[in-house]
Amino acid sequence: MARIEIEGGYPLTGTVAVSGAKNAVLPILMASLLTAEPCRLVGVPHLKDVTTTMELLGQMGVEISLGEGFDVGLQAAHLSTHTAPYDLVKTMRASILVLGPLLARAGEARVSLPGGCAIGARPVNLHLKGLSQMGAEITVEGGYIHAKASRLTGARVVMDGITVTGTENILMAATLAEGETVIENAAQEPEVVDLAECLIAMGAEISGHGSTRIVVKGKETLAGYDHTVIPDRIEAGTFLVGAAMTGGHIKVTNVRPDTLDAVIEKLREAGAHVVEGEDFIELDMAGKRPRAVNLATAPYPGFPTDMQAQFTALNAIAEGTAVVRETVFENRFMHILELQRLGADMQIEGNTVIIQGKSKLDAAPMMATDLRASACLVLAGLVAEGKTLIDRVYHIDRGYENIEEKLGQLGARIRRLPVS
Ligand code: EPZ
Repeated sequence: MARIEIEGGYPLTGTVAVSGAKNAVLPILMASLLTAEPCRLVGVPHLKDVTTTMELLGQMGVEISLGEGFDVGLQAAHLSTHTAPYDLVKTMRASILVLGPLLARAGEARVSLPGGCAIGARPVNLHLKGLSQMGAEITVEGGYIHAKASRLTGARVVMDGITVTGTENILMAATLAEGETVIENAAQEPEVVDLAECLIAMGAEISGHGSTRIVVKGKETLAGYDHTVIPDRIEAGTFLVGAAMTGGHIKVTNVRPDTLDAVIEKLREAGAHVVEGEDFIELDMAGKRPRAVNLATAPYPGFPTDMQAQFTALNAIAEGTAVVRETVFENRFMHILELQRLGADMQIEGNTVIIQGKSKLDAAPMMATDLRASACLVLAGLVAEGKTLIDRVYHIDRGYENIEEKLGQLGARIRRLPVS
């Protein structure tokens, strides 16, 4: 398995550009199922999850072409199957995002239940409940969701819990439903907003996206799209935390500072000097050790759960004691056990971890368990004394494009070791 080796002790300095947002690209690629017209997505990062999504769509009959650089052409003129098979869905939970658009376009969808993952059970009951309220007949058997609806009808869907992909599935389905759909308690993430903007460009009638109440007036058909995806706020945040941990000074470009308010606030609390530009964020730690910061994750615009692991790495070497609470997922502390191998002083109590910052961590071999946990281990490797080896980095390749090249250009001593 691929491994990454990091030699700690080098501050991050310089400029790095952020790639397109994985969690916007995935639903927008799926949105190509809503139309027979050609679609083009620009700014697509080269990530395992993106490749998996294109493989899944290709298997369903979507014609896919790769343009120069980072753009992808798709056309779902004729769908050969209405099934998203287990062998692909098990490698990427976000495959559930096929359900809404496929059901709305073809009137039928068979999607393997995604199953759980390292960070939690990850049920999809809210997705199914919302689509049922829109008239879908849904059965679950043999590990597959089977949904049918000659044409979905608009409904007022009150989400029992805030779910990003649940909101996205219902939003996409509603664009072709008969009548008006109102999604109450909708997710407000920037990636949901980017999807909505893309759907509007396809001719969908949507308002309220970015708030907890989204209103959609269904259409008979939609046109294609030519859309540039928003930058990845989590990738940007990850690099900024790396600079704060190593006492460095970096400028992150191609970023939307307004999507990172909660993260920037915590970085300032940790002692970083942060300048927010139109499309860049500059962080200067001036060689200082970060101060410990308390945080509790929450749905957007709260502190993002996808940045929790990175901040536990910062707190591991910060001055003082920090309390980090994970309120979104039930098992998102796998990285704590790995950080303890480096000597981190952390105590898990339910959905909270108490962290006593230490002046140094000692390098040790670690194993990545999930996407953001693996990013946290890389960050810890940047400060640990000696050479850290991280195994199972395929997790990191799912969500970070060329992470060792990008960190390397910022001065990190990091390399990918040949598969052993
Ligand atoms: C999206 O996952 C992201 N993935 C996740 O990013 C992110 O961590 C998460 O939102 C929260 O921000 C994509 O967008 C592809 P949820 P999603 O539905 O939609 C419960 C990453 O690192 N829930 O918002 O699957 C669920 O168990 C990934 O890029 C139900 O109970 O997350 C969780 O506790 C990891 N029933 C909470 O809601 C449902 O039907 C939030 O989950 C759906 C969700």
